[in-house]
Amino acid sequence: MSVVPHITLNNGNTIPQLGFGVFQIEPEDTADAVREAIEVGYRHIDTAEMYGNEREVGQGIRASGIDRGDVFVTSKLNNGLHEPDDAREAFHTTLSDLGFDYVDLFLIHWPLPTLYDGDFVSTWKTLEGFRNDGRARSIGVSNFQIEHLDRLAAETDTVPSVNQIEVHPYFTNEAVREYGQDHGIATEAWSPIAQGAVLDDPTITRIAENIGKTPAQVVLRWHIQRGDVVFPKSVTPSRMRENFELFDFEIEPGDMDEISALDQGEGGRTGPNPNTFAHVPG
Ligand SMILES: NC(=O)c1ccc[n+]([C@@H]2O[C@H](COP(=O)([O-])OP(=O)(O)OC[C@H]3O[C@@H](n4cnc5c(N)ncnc54)[C@H](OP(=O)(O)O)[C@@H]3O)[C@@H](O)[C@H]2O)c1
Repeated sequence: MSVVPHITLNNGNTIPQLGFGVFQIEPEDTADAVREAIEVGYRHIDTAEMYGNEREVGQGIRASGIDRGDVFVTSKLNNGLHEPDDAREAFHTTLSDLGFDYVDLFLIHWPLPTLYDGDFVSTWKTLEGFRNDGRARSIGVSNFQIEHLDRLAAETDTVPSVNQIEVHPYFTNEAVREYGQDHGIATEAWSPIAQGAVLDDPTITRIAENIGKTPAQVVLRWHIQRGDVVFPKSVTPSRMRENFELFDFEIEPGDMDEISALDQGEGGRTGPNPNTFAHVPG
């Protein structure tokens, strides 16, 4: 079994650099997928209230038979629930749906700067309470831009432990990553293979052929060597295994640079722009 490196967060806690994402896994398929992922060796699961499968994530972890303390579990606050009272109730529901008395990491899913009078600061202070009472071992944010992080730094006492943002070879998101590096915020790269869109790229397929690995392995290894945390999603057991086998090879510096040069800037973004995203699930 591969040995997944751990990254030390700014509060001293550690996080496995490779995990398993469950976005767009149907609730009825989630428990089996999580159990299978744990069987493969994953010890880090990334879910969210918005994904509608927290209950089944908990079921899958329990069905695997591993101890709760041996798996790192992340969830995220849903967009309609940023008001402090709503956030407290939602966090309680997250824990009760998962069936655990703590999460390893809890994130604000989106900053929503055009909603709630732009006040994600009081939401962040509410998460500080979850950290203080021990129900969230670490707290962080997702899809925060530099100006949002600057505002948290100016108005609150806690630097987020992570910022989970879109990053892949077509959208390398360098400025936000660099801000994280400079301020002790670990970057988690979501949609690390751009939901498959980068896997046919001729640069990536050429490098993969040269080193005898698959395109997905090359792209995921590129993230690992850049120091980001990744959690590719797959409901296909053979792909879960493929995506886990990243620690018996290295990408040379020249190939790393070629992959990074595939960046298309804002044009490469596949998800919403955090500055304008304002979707509240009904
Ligand atoms: N914070 C946020 O706003 C946010 C947004 C998006 C995602 N995320 C997180 O990031 C995780 C990963 O991102 P994602 O799910 O959007 O996309 P992804 O992991 O980049 O790609 C998943 C897609 O690629 C396919 N795939 C997986 N491994 C493959 C392989 N080895 N070869 C070929 N195809 C493969 C999967 O198909 P099959 O499943 O059919 O095998 C699925 O369609 C999510 O699950 C979620 O935890 C967070």
